[in-house]
Amino acid sequence: MSLHLHVSATAEEAASACASYLASVLAVALAGEPAASIAVSGGRTPALMFDALSRAELDWRRLHVFWVDERAVAPADPMSNYGMADRHLIRPARIPQKNVHRIEGEAGAHEAAARYEEEIRRFFGLRPGELPRFDVIQCGIGEDAHTASLFPGEPLIEDRQGIAAAVRVARLEQWRITLLPGVLLAAQNTVVLASGAEKASALRRVVDGPYDPVQAPAQLLRHHGRNVHWFIDRAAAALLD
Ligand code: 6PG
Repeated sequence: MSLHLHVSATAEEAASACASYLASVLAVALAGEPAASIAVSGGRTPALMFDALSRAELDWRRLHVFWVDERAVAPADPMSNYGMADRHLIRPARIPQKNVHRIEGEAGAHEAAARYEEEIRRFFGLRPGELPRFDVIQCGIGEDAHTASLFPGEPLIEDRQGIAAAVRVARLEQWRITLLPGVLLAAQNTVVLASGAEKASALRRVVDGPYDPVQAPAQLLRHHGRNVHWFIDRAAAALLD
């Protein structure tokens, strides 16, 4: 699997490069279809990238935003991935609320996952057993090489049929809702954004390490993703060959 690695000097430059790439992918998608779809991740890293992406000249009225994962919390909770994206992307870009397909974490993880899966089925007009093909999915990577909310040892890492699920993250004592591997791998395009020295070890494991996606879930993207582009800063790239 070829590796599209974009290394920038700083986290800010990596975020900007990722935003530019996403804008170009979305512009192509919007040129070819009535609506385009992106699924974004949360955590800390994407905020800078969302700020840059929100300034892109895109027809946001035709762009639909979904999430790769969400914590089982309300939108106003500081842990909410939706809340962070709302502040840094949705409001600044003035994305219409009808285009925002939030995971309703406040409903509880299992109910939220069921509602989210139904929303995805409806939007993509899926037949039973069919998976959605997002135009682009933006993932991050944790220090333990998790991606989405697929953490090391999670049995759902081997699932290829499901769309979304509730997962209990024991280490964080948190319930989350996550897209499942089949959906991540069905995306037309994928970007992984990572920065900081604390990600260097995980990136080395994922990019150069022995194949073990159950223990290094981001290897799902490294080995099976479609058109995966990695945007990292020099600190995160420090241990790569
Ligand atoms: C989440 C994310 C998760 C994230 C990584 C990296 O809900 O936390 O979707 O997969 O991408 O944990 O998070 P940071 O950007 O905070 O390091």
